[in-house]
Amino acid sequence: MRVLFATSEVAPLIKTGGLADVSAALPAALSGMGVDVRILLPGYPQVLKALPHLQAATNIPIQPGFPAARLLASSLPNGVPLLVIECAELYERGGGAYQDEHGLDWPDNALRFGLLSKIAALLSCADSPLDWKPNIVHCNDWQTGLTPAYLHFSDGAVPCVMTVHNLAFQGVFPPQIVTELGLPAECFQPDGVEFYGNLSFMKAGLYYADHITTVSPSYANEIQTDALGFGLQGLLAYRREALTGILNGIDTTEWNPATDPNLVHSYDATDISGKSANKRELQKHMGLHIDPDLPLFGLVGRFTPQKGVDLVLEIAPQLITLPAQLILLGNGDVEMQRTALELSHHYSGQISAYVGFDEALSHLIEAGADIFLMPSRFEPCGLSQMYSQRYGTPPVVHATGGLIDTVLDCNAASLEQGVASGFVFHSMNTSSLLATAQRAVMAYHDKKIWRTLQHNCMVKDFSWRQSATAYYDIYTQLIRR
Ligand code: ADP
Ligand code: GLC
Repeated sequence: MRVLFATSEVAPLIKTGGLADVSAALPAALSGMGVDVRILLPGYPQVLKALPHLQAATNIPIQPGFPAARLLASSLPNGVPLLVIECAELYERGGGAYQDEHGLDWPDNALRFGLLSKIAALLSCADSPLDWKPNIVHCNDWQTGLTPAYLHFSDGAVPCVMTVHNLAFQGVFPPQIVTELGLPAECFQPDGVEFYGNLSFMKAGLYYADHITTVSPSYANEIQTDALGFGLQGLLAYRREALTGILNGIDTTEWNPATDPNLVHSYDATDISGKSANKRELQKHMGLHIDPDLPLFGLVGRFTPQKGVDLVLEIAPQLITLPAQLILLGNGDVEMQRTALELSHHYSGQISAYVGFDEALSHLIEAGADIFLMPSRFEPCGLSQMYSQRYGTPPVVHATGGLIDTVLDCNAASLEQGVASGFVFHSMNTSSLLATAQRAVMAYHDKKIWRTLQHNCMVKDFSWRQSATAYYDIYTQLIRR
């Protein structure tokens, strides 16, 4: 089985969120099962710089509407082969994968990700310039959403899977882009790529893919509803026979408190004593009062309404009176960043915020915090709450999407059954969040309950094993068909 895995970000080369982690770990898990998988990725400067041994793989014939491009070959640190699209005009510039230095979307994103989609399709059909030909192409989110559409209008195309990591981002562009990107005008209709008068990359993927997956079973149901379908619920409900929710796994090598180089002391489920040294280091590093007994809340994530960061900022002054401490790591919304820094300044020693992206610090927070906060309004899967459980840091989560599928509320029954692994609240408001945080603090002060909870969390199997098999089975069915 040969799989082309097309993605717009992959850890550790370029990362804005969980898609990057999944794009590194799922292909590695598939490789481990004997699948010949190659990742296709744009050649951003961060990628070219991090890969010193890039080799020219092939020139891509000029694609109408796109600048010239070349394919370079390399591999990820985990060994998975990479195909990098070299196109200086579209990818080699400062800023990030999707936005410039000021957080504004690149104005040519349709072209940038149109090219990624186009090349993924080209490598998966009869006129591929590469000798290696996949028998499945796996697309991820809107940035590769046009691939299934291009394939639909190509000869000798292989089956394609479209994975929705987040339906909130859809890649919607003005209608004239359709022909500029070399798509036939006939696909610009409701039964096609048209979405309220515009071109939607995400809709194209959902409409033309042979199979759709999303990253948790609960989210697979939620995206068929008005509340979380972002306008695509009708199409998703219509395609429900071809839609499967497969829970993400985590990279248990990268995220392992027994071997994590970002920690000052390692620990594991059999001996968790080393966790306290990480708490001390975290308190010191973030300028908090060093106190081993005060419960320390941690939050790592994009500062967006999706993540419910606004609720945390609102309750922060009350949270610390429980009493407790709070650490925030994230970036995004300018207003949220400002509030986080203000709180940090005003409650210095009790609240500390770092605005920016810091991989090492994210690991230290997962390990050094006592309780992880993830009150997302919606969450397709969420990886951070799985990392926190593996690090013995029970999460407080809102009952939505993948959070429901990965966290079991701590109560008498779940403790009795040995399955309690965090704290779940159901109403998305500050009083429910605060009450649940308070419940977590009470449990924290009961040493016996807390040790049980931490142990339950740490022994859970969040590996990719089962989920990679689920993808493998879908690929197999599509190839047989
Ligand atoms: P999402 O993909 O919606 O952002 P996930 O929980 O799936 O949410 O994945 C988030 C990933 O990004 C995790 O690996 C998390 O540690 C990381 N992350 C988010 N924000 C930051 C940040 N500011 N610094 C470091 N890592 C971050
Ligand atoms: C998206 C989602 C997140 C998910 C990640 C990886 O960014 O917001 O919930 O874990 O993709 O699939």
